[in-house]
Amino acid sequence: MIRLYSILLLGLMSCATVTSQNKTVDDKVDDLLAKMTLEEKIGQMNQYSSFFDVTGPAPKEGSAKERYEHIRSGRVGSVLNVRGVKEVRKMQELAVEESRLGIPLIFGYDVIHGYSTQAPIPLAESASWDLEAIQNSARLAAKEAAATGLNWTFAPMVDISRDARWGRVMEGAGEDPYLGSRIAEARVIGFQGDDLSSPETIAATAKHFAAYGFAESGKDYNTADVGLSTLYNVILPPFKAAVDAGVRTFMNSFNELNGVPATGDVFLQRELLKGEWGFNGFIVSDWGSIIEMVDHGYAADAKHASELAANAGSDMDMESNAYVNHLAALVAEGKVDETKINDAARRILKVKFELGLFDDPYKYCDEARESSTLGNTEQKEGALDMAKKSMVLLKNQDNLLPLPKSGKKIAIIGQLANDKNSPLGNWRMGASDNTAVSVVEGFAQYSGNKVVYEQGVKLFDGQEIFAMHIDVNEDDNSGIEEAVKVAQESDVVVLVVGEHGYMSGEGRSRANIGLPGLQQEMLEAIMEVNNNVVLVLMNGRPLAINWADQHVPAILEAWQPGTMSGDAIAQVVFGDYNPSGKLPMTFPKDVAQVPIYYNHKNTGRPGPKDVVFWSHYSDMTNEPLYPFGYGLSYSSFEYSDLSTATVDGKVKVSVTVKNTSSVDGEEVVQLYIRDKVASVTRPVKELKGFEKVSIKAGESQQVSFTLTDKELGFYNNKGVYIVEPGEFDIMVGGSSAAGLTDTITL
Ligand code: GLC
Repeated sequence: MIRLYSILLLGLMSCATVTSQNKTVDDKVDDLLAKMTLEEKIGQMNQYSSFFDVTGPAPKEGSAKERYEHIRSGRVGSVLNVRGVKEVRKMQELAVEESRLGIPLIFGYDVIHGYSTQAPIPLAESASWDLEAIQNSARLAAKEAAATGLNWTFAPMVDISRDARWGRVMEGAGEDPYLGSRIAEARVIGFQGDDLSSPETIAATAKHFAAYGFAESGKDYNTADVGLSTLYNVILPPFKAAVDAGVRTFMNSFNELNGVPATGDVFLQRELLKGEWGFNGFIVSDWGSIIEMVDHGYAADAKHASELAANAGSDMDMESNAYVNHLAALVAEGKVDETKINDAARRILKVKFELGLFDDPYKYCDEARESSTLGNTEQKEGALDMAKKSMVLLKNQDNLLPLPKSGKKIAIIGQLANDKNSPLGNWRMGASDNTAVSVVEGFAQYSGNKVVYEQGVKLFDGQEIFAMHIDVNEDDNSGIEEAVKVAQESDVVVLVVGEHGYMSGEGRSRANIGLPGLQQEMLEAIMEVNNNVVLVLMNGRPLAINWADQHVPAILEAWQPGTMSGDAIAQVVFGDYNPSGKLPMTFPKDVAQVPIYYNHKNTGRPGPKDVVFWSHYSDMTNEPLYPFGYGLSYSSFEYSDLSTATVDGKVKVSVTVKNTSSVDGEEVVQLYIRDKVASVTRPVKELKGFEKVSIKAGESQQVSFTLTDKELGFYNNKGVYIVEPGEFDIMVGGSSAAGLTDTITL
């Protein structure tokens, strides 16, 4: 009997607990909304960028004064670009202590691949195909950002792109929707963790919704005009994956999609994202994208733009000053229904409650945690691990790599080899200047060799942070002579070439994707006097390095590896880490081939190739320089025994992978399908599974996959997901261009 009572007592207590806390987040939001004026609800929809040093005196004039007053009067819901606990606390005090309802601000920032400690750029991280490492990298970034008072990052960017000219390919996961979806999930979970109210997690943002990566001719912000099949099967899946992973915010995009600016697109934001997908977080505009609808020729003026954006489901206005100035009048005029304001404010307040900001608006403002977290060992070790895993070995003729750790005279050449900024990449806003370990510094830890450094030909002059234009040296080749001399006197040359950190990123599209400046001239001059050249690439996009591929024995794609750049490169070059990366984006032979990607359609004219009447150029091959999924290792791997079995509509696939070398290594085993006949044409190849496996020297491992409807289907032009019976090719290998093939019938 006692047991029964105790159970009953426990039950009553838990009810009592529920009673005292029976208010769900939604209840609390509704209660708060009911107290808010229209102006205050619109205030939640208004986001400003930090515009004054809050730890200083209140601004006395201009927009800063007005904005200061707006925060105090509850007409601001969020601020971005506030740096540091002290600044965040002061601004939060303005909102919480001085406004009528004390609603806390949410603080956003572009924590794209780290805050103070930079991980490799996202395209580099994607080259690791290591979802656990990518998730951990986001977790560390969140921890560091949250320690500075931030609770929201404008990441992950999940825009698929097939155009290496576009500057923002550095920010994404490359050309493939399957890889992009898995990485979107990993990053969202890494940033948000399993408890958004923890002071070590932050809300994530899936951006830029949508089709930003399909800007015509690779020019940033340019028009995107895409077919429904590409929209549904290539562009949207990573966004849907982010929703399914629980992402709490979205950011729309600057571009128009098929004639409608994304910020004003009712289909994208209301019908699809909030409707069909059931997304219950909020959408923030991209910097000024609301007011930019005037330039698009879609809105007559700021007020009209506000009307269009609010009705289309853009919940928060970043830096257009549009909502705060026009929404109240639009509601009064009946052009925007107040229910839409309520919905937007509700969504924003919900995320703030989930972050715990109402429980304690200063929970992210702990100066002790800030100083103990920024740049600590955990951060640096995580960045180093991620950087090593991101590197892709593109060529290694006669196993020139890894280099011996002693007994050699090594020349390190190239301005980028001594550059402590460019390795931080474009989105390094949270990092201090010159905080990357350079290649020269990284190599210095391998003291067994005699190492000399020579800048060689200059790539760029100076570099202020967030540079708007990089002054690339196109005419002064004076540095080449000295570089050749040093090369001539050395056993091996490690030549570090590529792009300045601000030659990719937002607003940094390039029409040419070769080595900028006079680097190619220097490379050829060095090769004249010394064949033992290891080319290390530091770049934010695929580069058309044909000559190098034909002449240089070893090529390592290092991307922009972040804070621990030099250490990571040195550990790979000297063999303390066996490179395992695979390309997340095709490398063209020439920019004229762009857009070029592996998952292309067959067309009606794939051949025969002995006549002119097939889909090709008369003066350029269709083949890329390096295909999607390609990457070498110091090990070598052999695939055998591919087997497939169809059971209850699922396809079981297995393959044996043998490490035929004497070096333990990792291989990314990739599974592709081809749906050979379908009611909407399907690509010649689609990635539908991958597994990164470690295999000891000489050993074999069986790797298995199961293909289900989720992998075997596609979206038709009505956006309906379907799986059709018929023949499928199943391909498994170490890149999109190699492997074993079997055919199954569904
Ligand atoms: C920028 C970018 C966006 C970023 C935002 C805030 O223009 O397009 O990705 O998150 O503004 O900095």
